[in-house]
Amino acid sequence: MADPVAAPGRLTAEQVAAWDRDGFVVLPDAIAVADCEALIARAEAIVDAFDPSTVSIFTTHEQTRTTDQYFLDSAGRISCFFEEEAFAPDGSLRRAKAGSINKIGHALHDLDPTFDAFSRQPAIAGAAASVGFADPLLVQSMYIFKAPHIGGEVACHQDATFLFTEPSTVVGFWVALQDATIENGCLWAQPGGHRGPLRRRFVQDPESGARFDELDATPLPAPGGPELVPLEAAAGTLVVLHGQLPHWSDVNRSERSRHAYAVHVVDGAARYPADNWLQRPAELPLRGFTHAGTLGP
Ligand code: FE2
Repeated sequence: MADPVAAPGRLTAEQVAAWDRDGFVVLPDAIAVADCEALIARAEAIVDAFDPSTVSIFTTHEQTRTTDQYFLDSAGRISCFFEEEAFAPDGSLRRAKAGSINKIGHALHDLDPTFDAFSRQPAIAGAAASVGFADPLLVQSMYIFKAPHIGGEVACHQDATFLFTEPSTVVGFWVALQDATIENGCLWAQPGGHRGPLRRRFVQDPESGARFDELDATPLPAPGGPELVPLEAAAGTLVVLHGQLPHWSDVNRSERSRHAYAVHVVDGAARYPADNWLQRPAELPLRGFTHAGTLGP
């Protein structure tokens, strides 16, 4: 089949083989460090301008995930989410706002010109073409701070839980904007785990906002378990993650932040269910790397 995108950032045959075998591929020096620094500055400016009067705490721990309207609306907005540990019992912030944010999501790539250009650069477009997208659509973006001392754990999960399509097509493009190490909460992934079943789906629920639906009882690897390997990554590294790959990141108790940016891509040829948590407003249609697109119901 002809390449859908003629992009200079294509993966080598060896890298594609690693992708097929492991469900992820780590690409050091894929992104210019100057571009990473520009993205960090832009994210800090967004947080600076953020009025925290409407608060949402983000975590993938089932019992505490915020499923309020602020979270659902973030599908088509630039919204800031606080760390779980950001607040004292009386509700006041324990530290400055800038050191209390967990992440920004989930439409940075379509609403902010700096994030738009970063998300659609050749290294990411080329990697997407290399892993088999016919009609890639950028559906979700997240800027993750992993702040010193309180940057929260992200429980072991599969991205297809949150961005389910039929057939499953979601791929994550994760960029280390700062050095990610075991000490400051780098990614951990299960090599080959993408061949396992999808365990659950995160769907909209009229009563509670959103809920998890169980699909398969096979347990995910336990955080720190022997199946998981650390993906330490220097700033500028692009990690491509299969949507069914179990992955996890630990809390950051170190002195150093671990900023990262992730953009998720689905294929426009797949069915995107109307009960997925992420539903974009009609006035903000999805775009690919070079074109407008729509998701099939
Ligand atoms: Fe993830």
